[in-house]
Order: sequence, then C-alpha cells, then structure tokens
Amino acid sequence: MSVPIPDSLVSRASRVTREYHVEGKRIFPNAYLAPMSGVTDISFRRLISRLSGGRTGLMVSEFVTVEELTKLNPRICRQMAFAPEERPFTVQIYGAEPDRMAWGAAMVEESGADFVEINCGCPAPKIVRKGGGSGLLRDLGNLKAIIANVKKSVRIPVTVKVRVGWAEDQINLLETQKVVEGEGASALVIHGRTRQQGYKGLANWDLIALAKSQAKIPVVGNGDILRVEDVVDKLERYGVDGVAVGRGAMHNPWIFNQVADLYEGKTPQEPTLMEHGQLFRQYLELLREEMDQEGRLLGKLKQMAARVLKGLPNSKGGRTDVLRSMTLNAFFDNLDTLLGSISEYRGRILHDVRELNGKDANEIEFGKDYRN
Ligand SMILES: Cc1cc2nc3c(=O)[nH]c(=O)nc-3n(C[C@H](O)[C@H](O)[C@H](O)COP(=O)(O)O)c2cc1C
Repeated sequence: MSVPIPDSLVSRASRVTREYHVEGKRIFPNAYLAPMSGVTDISFRRLISRLSGGRTGLMVSEFVTVEELTKLNPRICRQMAFAPEERPFTVQIYGAEPDRMAWGAAMVEESGADFVEINCGCPAPKIVRKGGGSGLLRDLGNLKAIIANVKKSVRIPVTVKVRVGWAEDQINLLETQKVVEGEGASALVIHGRTRQQGYKGLANWDLIALAKSQAKIPVVGNGDILRVEDVVDKLERYGVDGVAVGRGAMHNPWIFNQVADLYEGKTPQEPTLMEHGQLFRQYLELLREEMDQEGRLLGKLKQMAARVLKGLPNSKGGRTDVLRSMTLNAFFDNLDTLLGSISEYRGRILHDVRELNGKDANEIEFGKDYRN
C-alpha cells in the first residue's frame, strides 16, 4: 500500500519557483541530480530518468578530467556520453590549466552537450594539489582565466559549481561569485560546504541565500537534501532558482519523481516495497548495457543497496545479508527475503540528513576520485 505525504506540500510547492532558464533553455523541474563521480554514470542517470517518468529538468555527467579528455583517453571520453532522454545535459570538467580547460570544453561542445560546467568543488588532495577542483577557490585569478578561456572556446553556456570557500575562516563565496559573473558564466551552483568540511557537518544555506540575493545569474543551491519536503523547504526559505540533490538521491532515488508529481499538483507517493524490488532489477538491466562482469554489476547494485535499503523499517539484518551476497542470484534472493519479511510498511524512514555521509567507512567507498 502506498502512503501519501501530507497534502499541504502540494499547496506550498505551488508557491515556490519551479523552473529557471540558462540562456533561454528551460530547466524544469528545478531539482536535479547533482554529479557524483563513481555514482552518477549513464546507468544511474537513466535509472533516475525512468523512475521519474522522463520528467527530469537537467542531468550532469560525473566530473571529467580535461587532462585525460584532451589525450583522447577512451574511458574518459565515454564519460561524456548521454542518452537523448537526459537532455538538457551538462558535462562537467575539471582541471587547472586555462588552455586545456578551453580545449576540453570545445570537446564537450562537440559531443552535443547543452552546457559545460567548471568544477571548483572537488576536495580530493590529488586534484587540489594541482590547483583544480576546490583548489581554484584559492586562486581566483586562475579561475577567472579559466572561465574566460572556456567562454572563448565554446558557444554553449558555461556554468560553474563551487563550494562556499576553502575553510571556515576563508569563506570567499561572494568574491568567487563576482569572478563567475564577471567572466560571463550563465549559472552558479553552490555546494554550501567548505573544502575543509569535505562532506561532514551541514551545508551553509544562509551563505547560499546571500549569494542568491546578490546574483545576476541563476543560483542553484546544494547540500543535505534527502526528501521531497527538503526541496520545497530550501526553495521557500532560501529563494534559490533551483536545487541539486547528491547523496540524498542515493537514499531516495524516487525524489525526482516525487518533485515532478508535486509540480503537477499531485501528492507525491512513497515507493512501495514492490517498487524497491523493481528498482534493483531495472538498475541491473541498465547496467548490463554498459558492463558485463558479474563482480562489477554486483558492486554497483550493492552501492545502491547500502543506501536505499536503509530507508526500510527493521531491515538491518536483511540489509547486511544483501550486502554480503557473493553472486547476483544471491543478491536478489536476499533482497526478496528482506522485502518479504517487512510486514508493517508505512513508507520509508529517511535518516537524519546528518548521516548522509554514512557511518561506516565502506559507505563512502564509491567516488574514490572525489574524496577528501
Ligand atoms: C561520491 C561523491 C562524488 C562526487 N562527485 C562530484 C563530481 O564529480 N562533481 C561535482 O561537482 N560534485 C561531486 N560531488 C559533490 C556533490 O555533487 C554534492 O555537491 C555534495 O555531495 C553535496 O550535496 P549532498 O549533500 O546533496 O550530497 C560528489 C559527492 C560525492 C559524495
């Protein structure tokens, strides 16, 4: 039995901003899947698209290294690939050399993407050390040169994703915003944490709102969104043009479907237990189009299971069995046993956002390139 979320959300949602435009291209709904390296590859994104009945506003690639892209590394070039239903589509690039970033951006444009995004948020030491990712927040002169060069090399709009600063005592969001706008970028995405925070603590939405209040271009806020209520809450309270949902979408991949329903005036539904079972079968089908090794397929399913199954009541033991499965058959047997064992289901129990980073080290094993 599906369980409705309180109705007043529908009326609240009817009063918030539900779309924005990037150089004339409409982004609707304005809540989209944030890029997550090691997670939001084409299979994951297509799953999200299917779950929401094709009603996604924007899709973004995992971050792509221009260093390797411009060497035509086939694995990296494939990261730019997207399915037609993913449009409008952004390819996000990272690097620290203005010329190479411009070259990489030109390749992005050639790939047919709608937008190219510059990553200024990645906290990984090996990237920051070379001046890329959030390292750019400490060298706004280079960020300026990168945006200027990228702008010169492409006709598609250029967007920029940043953190609020390097550390608590080095918050420089407004200076960064000035550079981003001054160089003609078309949208600013703000993850409300510092580089020093990594993924811990909470995002600072007050800073995001401050940037929005002064912005000349659309501002997308990001951090700690898990439930459809959080989407409405952030739009209401902080006045941003849109929101991006990262780890919350791994716990709750139905969130974009719920937002799309809400924006159509429908009460969003919690997924049923049966839909939980279907989720993994659908994901496997999409993964098989990209890979065939059982170990890799199993790894991907477990990555999702570690988060999604947390939302089920009394599921700890069964979840451990699923995560210890050695074969695909065992995975689905254990999953079905777990789902069958839940007698009282009144919707998902989504954990406090403070736990989005996971308590166990194994839960942030995905996205190795992106970790701090
Ligand atoms: C495993 C992982 C990989 C990530 N990879 C990227 C990336 O490639 N590009 C990017 O801009 N942000 C990346 N991020 C950051 C997210 O897009 C997002 O800004 C961050 O997780 C905060 O949002 P959340 O609280 O909704 O998760 C990554 C985050 C995680 C957890």
